[in-house]
Amino acid sequence: MRILVTGGAGFIGSAVVRLAIARGHEVINLDALTYAACLANVASVDSTPGYTFVRADIRDRAALDAVFADHAPDAVMHLAAESHVDRSIDGPGDFIETNVTGTYHLLEAARAYWAGAGRPDGFRFHHISTDEVFGSLPADPSVRFTEDTPYDPRSPYSASKASSDHLVRAWGETYGLPTLLTNCSNNYGPFHFPEKLIPVIILKALAGEPLPIYGDGSNIRDWLYVEDHADALLLVLEKGIPGRSYNVGGDNERANIDLVRTLCAILDDKRPDARGSYADQIAFVADRPGHDARYAIDATRMREELGWTPSVTIEEGLAKTVQWYLDNEDWWRALLDRTGVGTRLGTG
Ligand SMILES: NC(=O)c1ccc[n+]([C@@H]2O[C@H](COP(=O)([O-])OP(=O)(O)OC[C@H]3O[C@@H](n4cnc5c(N)ncnc54)[C@H](O)[C@@H]3O)[C@@H](O)[C@H]2O)c1
Repeated sequence: MRILVTGGAGFIGSAVVRLAIARGHEVINLDALTYAACLANVASVDSTPGYTFVRADIRDRAALDAVFADHAPDAVMHLAAESHVDRSIDGPGDFIETNVTGTYHLLEAARAYWAGAGRPDGFRFHHISTDEVFGSLPADPSVRFTEDTPYDPRSPYSASKASSDHLVRAWGETYGLPTLLTNCSNNYGPFHFPEKLIPVIILKALAGEPLPIYGDGSNIRDWLYVEDHADALLLVLEKGIPGRSYNVGGDNERANIDLVRTLCAILDDKRPDARGSYADQIAFVADRPGHDARYAIDATRMREELGWTPSVTIEEGLAKTVQWYLDNEDWWRALLDRTGVGTRLGTG
């Protein structure tokens, strides 16, 4: 399959690109290279026949039309987005422009190309979204997000993603564009940009700095190893039913404070510090405004309809992730001077 991947220089998009190439697909990686992008993430496939990088912005309709005309993809996997909740609190405009308006332009470019090609049945527009569109769950462990959970986004980021999900559904219903939608829980793993919780904790621990925990650390997230997400996305692309959505998650609910304590224990084991446990660096800081209490995914549809299950446990995945950051200091050091990295954002 020839796949147009948007946002393929980001965290999840690059995992998709690497896996798609490994599985013999052709990939056109379209990315604007914002602050969150890193071409080193796809350096391992850069010289592979069948891989092409195009620097373009999804808000630029003419550029999108040219990419469709030049490369004639069989499918689009749309991951380009502004993705950091804290940044969305400080500057929601970029989130509306890229996540909403950009998705609109990409849908229109895809629709024009698909119509021009005679509306091929096999074409797919796969929109990659988040469980944050469903809002915040109560503590009751029996309540989880299903594909039928009503949307209730509560941050500028999740509201912009919810908007884009609605556009994708509308383009499927109204124009017949063969769309697929996935809503995934929090990802972690190699190449995670050092502004998100897990890399922040690993890098601040190694630097001997306070490990910031928002509020009392009780907020629960449901964690999935990024390579398992990429595997799920390619499966949905190949086997998913157009018009249907799929919730993707790893059944790994953890309170933030417990997750951080686990990371500290892994670091204590792999890189012992004579001054004591890294957990001694934990510092509670002011909470994020509107901080959602709990996310949890019910991935029954992925399991029962598509036969997907994650390949690594959270214990294995966190250990692999910590090791990756220990082994790839050049990668993360090069990102530390990007705007906003290492500073507290989104305090409202
Ligand atoms: N990170 C998570 O835990 C998570 C979970 C579920 C869903 N998602 C979704 O998955 C997708 C990828 O997330 P991520 O964590 O890899 O994000 P990321 O921030 O690491 O990467 C986003 C990429 O999109 C590119 N981009 C941004 N604006 C663009 C524009 N206007 N035109 C073209 N490219 C642009 C950036 O340059 C970057 O390479 C997003 O849509 C996000 O909402 C993320």
